[in-house]
Amino acid sequence: MFHAASNIAAKVNEAFIFVTAACVVLLVAVTITMIFFLFRYNRKKNPVPSDIRENTPLEILWTVVPTILVLGMFYFGWVNFGYIRNPPRDAIEIGVIGRQWSWAFTYANGKQSDVLNVPVGRPVELVLTSADVIHSFFIPAYRVKEDCVPGMKTHMWFTANELGTYDIFCTEYCGLAHSHMRSTLNVMQVGDFENWYEAEAAAPGAEGLKLLQSKGCLGCHTTDGTKKVGPTFKGLYDSMVTVITNGKERTIRADEEYIRRSVLDPGADVVKGYPNIMPTLPVTGKELDEIVEYLDRLK
Ligand code: CUA
Repeated sequence: MFHAASNIAAKVNEAFIFVTAACVVLLVAVTITMIFFLFRYNRKKNPVPSDIRENTPLEILWTVVPTILVLGMFYFGWVNFGYIRNPPRDAIEIGVIGRQWSWAFTYANGKQSDVLNVPVGRPVELVLTSADVIHSFFIPAYRVKEDCVPGMKTHMWFTANELGTYDIFCTEYCGLAHSHMRSTLNVMQVGDFENWYEAEAAAPGAEGLKLLQSKGCLGCHTTDGTKKVGPTFKGLYDSMVTVITNGKERTIRADEEYIRRSVLDPGADVVKGYPNIMPTLPVTGKELDEIVEYLDRLK
């Protein structure tokens, strides 16, 4: 009856429609009976209140019908819960890390991405965790939602029914840019997915951009000149910036040393007009070199 973009959505819709329909039937039955009694037993028609006792068929009816309805709801909940919680063995496993305020996806061959690419028609299992606070991974169109908890692994699975792109949201308040913590689910043809999955890293310098994506930097910074939670990277390298250092304002050149310091110790020089909220991200020396190289090319 409802459009289902994933196998899980079909199950959830089924249960939702059944519960809603049962509730509507009960609401209508109770309301009609109430209105009927209002007329049937009002003071004019029934001056001496009727004393009605014991109607065995009626009592059986109002015990049996609600019991069947409630057990029906339980049945849908029970059977579908088992289905939703147990991924098939051949599911493609993808790691998901939530951090303030971005999503990062890691595939079995080490490939990383800031959007979730999956093949159509194949079961996918997500193994979720968090690098800082509790986030919650939510794909509304798929009716799937699971918390990302630091120090813990949680699971969810689905099979995409059709090609398309879908919104991914964080649905657990996790700080200032919670509402910006979004990503996209890309459902691809199996062949397209395999090509993407097997593709080697692109041209030199592109590595830095990939790191900025996978480490979540682009959750708060842009590469096109627009402001987000943090300043843009475009034109940053070697520009003059006004920063707050130990509570004092000063203007410095955004040279390589400044950029390295800003990654390793984000609170040291905070650009004027922006909140001092950037987390320290785990980054190796080689990764930092790649990021610096990319930002140098972006100026
Ligand atoms: Cu992450 Cu809200």
